[in-house]
Amino acid sequence: MEEVLVKCERIDHFGRGIGYVLGKIIFVPNLLPKEEAMVKIVLDKKKYMVGEVIKLVKKSDDRILPKCGYENCGCALKSLKYEKTLEFKKEKVIDILKRYSGLTNVVKEIVPSDNIYGYRNKITLKVKGGRLGYFKNGTNDLIEIKRCEIASHKSNEIISVLKELDLSKVREIIIKDFGEVMIIIKGELDIELLKPLVDSIYMNARLVYGKENIVASLGEFKFYLSKDAFFQVNSGVALKLYNKVLDYLDVSSGKNVLDLYCGTGTISLFLSKYFDQVVGVEINEEAVKCATLNKNLNNISNVMFICGDVSKEVSGLMAEQIVVDPPRSGLTSAGINDILRINPDRLVYVSCDPMTLARDLKLFKDNYEVKEVTLFDMFPWTYHVESVCLLVKR
Ligand SMILES: C[S@@+](CC[C@H](N)C(=O)[O-])C[C@H]1O[C@@H](n2cnc3c(N)ncnc32)[C@H](O)[C@@H]1O
Repeated sequence: MEEVLVKCERIDHFGRGIGYVLGKIIFVPNLLPKEEAMVKIVLDKKKYMVGEVIKLVKKSDDRILPKCGYENCGCALKSLKYEKTLEFKKEKVIDILKRYSGLTNVVKEIVPSDNIYGYRNKITLKVKGGRLGYFKNGTNDLIEIKRCEIASHKSNEIISVLKELDLSKVREIIIKDFGEVMIIIKGELDIELLKPLVDSIYMNARLVYGKENIVASLGEFKFYLSKDAFFQVNSGVALKLYNKVLDYLDVSSGKNVLDLYCGTGTISLFLSKYFDQVVGVEINEEAVKCATLNKNLNNISNVMFICGDVSKEVSGLMAEQIVVDPPRSGLTSAGINDILRINPDRLVYVSCDPMTLARDLKLFKDNYEVKEVTLFDMFPWTYHVESVCLLVKR
């Protein structure tokens, strides 16, 4: 396809360089503001184009040599200085909140990750034609990898062993490393060489080696983790985030708190010391089982968990304060109406997608004031950012 010279004006919310070719916008991954590059046009649509850098002509002072050379993986910002990636994420959330919910001057700071490499305690590897790697962003094209710089040391050891094995009958391998290690395999694989490295192996949803659940430590708590239940991928940042949730709640008022979308009960347990009662609601049965085990493991008695859909379960509940930590899709309108009916004094909204956060905050606007938003760099080098937002009843 055609090659053109592109001057990068800025980067979009997905970390792609933006330039113009004959007046039409072009998105170019791995091109930084003020850089110029010869770009191959790989997609030419009516309103926009997508390109790939062939050769950098003018380089930004903010460019660094990334630790890995894989292109189009999830680390869209890996060629940018770390402190600049933090600035990018902060500006992105400020822009989204202003544009989609009219909020200004609410974003306070972005808390960096202490570990910027080897921070991920869970990775999902794809296998295609016996080759191991990640899918290129938004495609089923495999990028074969030898190691991954954001994965833990142990995960990379396991990757080295996997690369020696016959993976022809495997589709996906998930590695969870929380000190104790679990591997979840979709497909058929000879696991003998993996056993000495791990505590638990599942194959096609069946436990074939070791423990049913592994144990993770976070602050003063221990948590059982199952095959499918959610757990934050960066434990160091998760701990800071949970402390901010606590900081945003009014502990002096005691009483009852709801932890909606509670996963394995992490936030509920963190809050249990400071409130009379915490009730967690979670749809994933496995996660609720773990949450109950975790409550007992940590000798906590003032927490209970309900297994069900937030949109259905919350209507009968009451609380003075509420924490929500929904998936990327955000809250449902039924969920928002239920929260408005419960009418808590404070609402702390933990979000992994600023777009759905902005959409939802707009719906709370008449009843709640957004006091402050703190950002957390849970996923260094990617364009993702975690937000914790304090809303107080007007
Ligand atoms: C971002 S995670 C938060 C988990 C937990 N707060 C933590 O920090 O580990 C979102 C959780 O919401 C759960 N979930 C998704 N949709 C739900 C729904 N409609 N009702 C209840 N829980 C839901 C998911 O299973 C997942 O555990």
